[in-house]
Amino acid sequence: MESKESSLGTPSAAASNADDLGLTQFQGFWIPSRSVPTSSIIAFQKNFQALDDDIIVVSKPKSGTTWLKALVFSIVNRHHYTFSNTPLNSTNPHLLVPYLDIHLYKKNPNPDLSTISSPRLFSTHLPYPMLADSIKRSNCRIVYIIRNPFDIIVSLWHFLRFMDDRSVEDHFEMFCRGEEGYGPFWDHALGYWNMSLEKPSNVLFLRYEELKEDPVAQTKRLAAFLGFPFSIEEEKTGMVNQIVDFCSFNNLKDLEVNKTGKNPGSIIPNNKLFFRSGKVGDYVNHLSPTAVERLSNILEEKLSGSGLTF
Ligand code: A3P
Repeated sequence: MESKESSLGTPSAAASNADDLGLTQFQGFWIPSRSVPTSSIIAFQKNFQALDDDIIVVSKPKSGTTWLKALVFSIVNRHHYTFSNTPLNSTNPHLLVPYLDIHLYKKNPNPDLSTISSPRLFSTHLPYPMLADSIKRSNCRIVYIIRNPFDIIVSLWHFLRFMDDRSVEDHFEMFCRGEEGYGPFWDHALGYWNMSLEKPSNVLFLRYEELKEDPVAQTKRLAAFLGFPFSIEEEKTGMVNQIVDFCSFNNLKDLEVNKTGKNPGSIIPNNKLFFRSGKVGDYVNHLSPTAVERLSNILEEKLSGSGLTF
């Protein structure tokens, strides 16, 4: 995508219906600037100092972020908590793995993160080129989760209905133009895909669909990448399965905090919205075969030669 914005400076006033939705073209991507002011992105880019053992969960919205945060938190903290006293029972995963831009650097342009115990768990929806340089220079680990874009469109449409009355077709059209939160999708995906090939010990590329299909194998892969591999003893005693079951859609969705809670300061009216149906392929109920073919063709062209396919 052509950037209308040169560096860390002022966002462009690109006129389109993206404008009405609070999407601002900034550093080559469409940023939902009502929840992520560009000033908090600039503060994060300037001030965040990554540590080598930091873990950063990255996604485009509606790709399985909440699920991945619960898994990462559970893997890393499995020696500190049992399943009955884990903070996940009473706290939504988004607060346990806070967003650097939506939470931390929005509240304070230079927050004190030095008191957080290692490994620090953070998250962001920002594309790779927009990450703080200290992340790129450090040895920290980035876990990127991606989902097929057809399900993302449908999931986002449902999710935003509390504040946005666009039809699923409108969402689809904007998605095809790359005009969606943190889009274009293909540029976002390619940034992390290429880094996962270039620096496989620093960037892990996970797919929502693979996690659904074989959560045990993918959770083991995730734990090994994070530097918290399961021991043979843990595998024998069922620790991996217990984490997978605890973080499953049905378990997380039925926790009181995720049924009736709301995250302080969030524009999202309740945590329930993060748990809708958790299925692969729901898009066939909402997008026509012609629409699917059209976006497939766009993706084929945009991702051509990268090895990344959907
Ligand atoms: P659907 O709307 O298709 O149901 P994000 O966390 O990035 O906002 O993504 C939300 C999507 O992940 C929603 O998809 C939600 O239902 C699904 N989801 C949330 N928790 C999940 C879990 N534990 N397992 C599988 N899917 C989950």
